[in-house]
Amino acid sequence: MKKIAVFTSGGDAPGMNAHIRSVVRTGMHRGLEVYGITGGYQGMIEGKFSLLDRKKTVNIIDKGGTILKTSRSEEFKTYEGRKKAVDNLRKYEIDGVIACGGDGTFHGANLLHKEFGIKIVGTPGTIDNDLYGTYFTIGYDTAINTAAEAIDRIRDTADSHGRVFVIEVMGKHAGHIAMDVGVACGAEYISVPEALENLDIIYEKMKELGMHSRIIIIIGEGGEFGGANELAQRLIEMYGIDVKTAVLGHIQRGGTPSVKDRVLASHLGMAAVDALLDGKTDVMVGRHYQKLTFTPLQDTWEIKKPIENYFFELAEIIS
Ligand code: F6P
Repeated sequence: MKKIAVFTSGGDAPGMNAHIRSVVRTGMHRGLEVYGITGGYQGMIEGKFSLLDRKKTVNIIDKGGTILKTSRSEEFKTYEGRKKAVDNLRKYEIDGVIACGGDGTFHGANLLHKEFGIKIVGTPGTIDNDLYGTYFTIGYDTAINTAAEAIDRIRDTADSHGRVFVIEVMGKHAGHIAMDVGVACGAEYISVPEALENLDIIYEKMKELGMHSRIIIIIGEGGEFGGANELAQRLIEMYGIDVKTAVLGHIQRGGTPSVKDRVLASHLGMAAVDALLDGKTDVMVGRHYQKLTFTPLQDTWEIKKPIENYFFELAEIIS
């Protein structure tokens, strides 16, 4: 193996730059040339390849976003699109690829392996923490801390007015962000896509605390009954109360990566280069506590990563 390439794809996540930096530096240390593909799979289709080195990865370890940019490519979903991408990998004589992203990215990587025999390993880069096979994904720790900071601010004003607030956090179809920040911010109610909603609990809590008490409800996007606005509307209709909403949205994806994310991203960067050199392919390189894990790409999205059971009991008891 002489040349490898790295790219980021899907939603950006804080720590992706630390990851790119680590891949480049480890690759060079192991005697490889490391190319960056700009713009995810779309960039692969359009031949946006450039040789990276230490200088090009200076001063990025603390930067959010991704210097390699990212995309959600419709063209790559077609066989013709993937063929164009592979033609470019062959033109640049790339022997192995590191794909940093979430389940969509891994679907694409799995197809490159199955259809064209491309040697490819995935690394978990998503704020959602929804990939089976790794305890945390790159970006998750930063995102939950960013969300918690925003929620703490809202709690101040909610507390002063004695208001009910419904706050929506990201996570696609997984409630990891909602559950973690809900517990961390002392929410009175946490709604995650993985569990049935029981709005009576909210009303009971309001009666218990007094009708003008501050109530914080955290809801993960992607639930069956919609997000913060839909939940607020239902509460208004059911109980005739005043409810404010906040959708945190993309604020959760930006900003300086936390120390944990920088270290995880760097560790997985080194591990991904070594995995390619060891002949591994079609796997995600992840980490369970301090141990590296190698999970077939298909398992990462087919096996659902559960929210640990104790969380539901904990949330019920302490909220
Ligand atoms: O997967 C990361 C994520 O931020 C999800 O939490 C969210 O549902 C989605 O991406 C939003 O994607 P986009 O930025 O393309 O709207």
